[in-house]
Amino acid sequence: MSDRCENALLPEHLVQDAAAGRSLSRSRLTRRSFLAAAAASALPAMSRPAGAKARRVPFGGAIQIEYLDSDPAYSRAFLQHCDIILPMNELKFSSLRPTREDFNFAPADRLVDLALSNGKRSRGHTHVWWNALPDWLQSIGSAMEAERELVRHIETVMDRYRGRLESWDVVNEVIAHVPTRDEPLRDTYWLRTMGARHIPVAFEAAQRADPSARLILNDYDLEFSGDRYDARRAIALSLVRQLQDAGIRIDGVGIQAHLYADLKIDVEAVARFGADLKALGLSLIVTELDVIDWNIRGGPEEQDAAALVVVGDLLDGIFAAGPPDAVIAWGITDRYSWIPDVMPRRDGTPSRPLPLDADYRPKPWFDLIEARLSQGV
Ligand code: XIL
Repeated sequence: MSDRCENALLPEHLVQDAAAGRSLSRSRLTRRSFLAAAAASALPAMSRPAGAKARRVPFGGAIQIEYLDSDPAYSRAFLQHCDIILPMNELKFSSLRPTREDFNFAPADRLVDLALSNGKRSRGHTHVWWNALPDWLQSIGSAMEAERELVRHIETVMDRYRGRLESWDVVNEVIAHVPTRDEPLRDTYWLRTMGARHIPVAFEAAQRADPSARLILNDYDLEFSGDRYDARRAIALSLVRQLQDAGIRIDGVGIQAHLYADLKIDVEAVARFGADLKALGLSLIVTELDVIDWNIRGGPEEQDAAALVVVGDLLDGIFAAGPPDAVIAWGITDRYSWIPDVMPRRDGTPSRPLPLDADYRPKPWFDLIEARLSQGV
């Protein structure tokens, strides 16, 4: 652990304020009760349709409501391939809170019901994010008012889905894109308004609202080789330690795994990261797996070959510390993905980011995932 990032994240008094604050901490957890709670909330046994392959580690996918009715093969693919199905966008702040007064649960309800009524599991993404924030929220400039709104939001949403969403990305993308000693955290509405304190506040509200949900810190660029990635991993670990030191529960770190097929995964660093987290009582979960092949020359064969390497290396690093909670893809089919919108291929040919191609045929890297998740090693 470099001490470069160790001290500057959550100033001690802010964390302690959060752990002791009036609106927080009805039951402040000790480290021992934290471990007991983590053990008690071990994942429930998987339910799966008869005939489906048994996986030791669940596989999941994020689903988008807009394609449910227009393309029946879409939901069928999730039901066929996934143990966990979660709303991609419908539990984000702006989707749930178009206005300050109202909570719009209908779209998320539909997706969570689709999962659970088919014997699948589901999870929540996400409470605190820099993006998908409604204008009414961003016009709140007072720290106290922002905190009240954040806590009310988390309590109301987690109360509604209590016992149905097995884990939550409590905070998403809070680490600076290019971290520096002075600015390890991302400049967001929440940081500007509440300071780093918004992180412990969010975790504490979440654990109070649904003690059975696993609470995750989720971020990207945690898997590649290089100083920037080393710094991001160090900051994630430091955040975990500081939350625990303040008696605040956190159960795992989500590696989003938007994998650049032209970059090198640092297998050893990911393994070390997983081992360090395990020593703190936390697990890893892969939350948003897809492949960014914009710099890969050639056609589908070259794209899939490059994807197989990055996905294989990621799994090697992750499994080195033991099986992750789950491996979850950010979609299921190349037919629908954010990748070509945001990072299109330079030659204009189709991107191949997801486990199934545009005709719902599994890629070689999905076969690899199936093998690893079935073996659990
Ligand atoms: C993306 C969705 O895939 C898009 O449909 C949406 O328009 C924007 O958000 N990191 C995250 C996800 O944590 O929430 C983002 O999802 C992708 C990057």
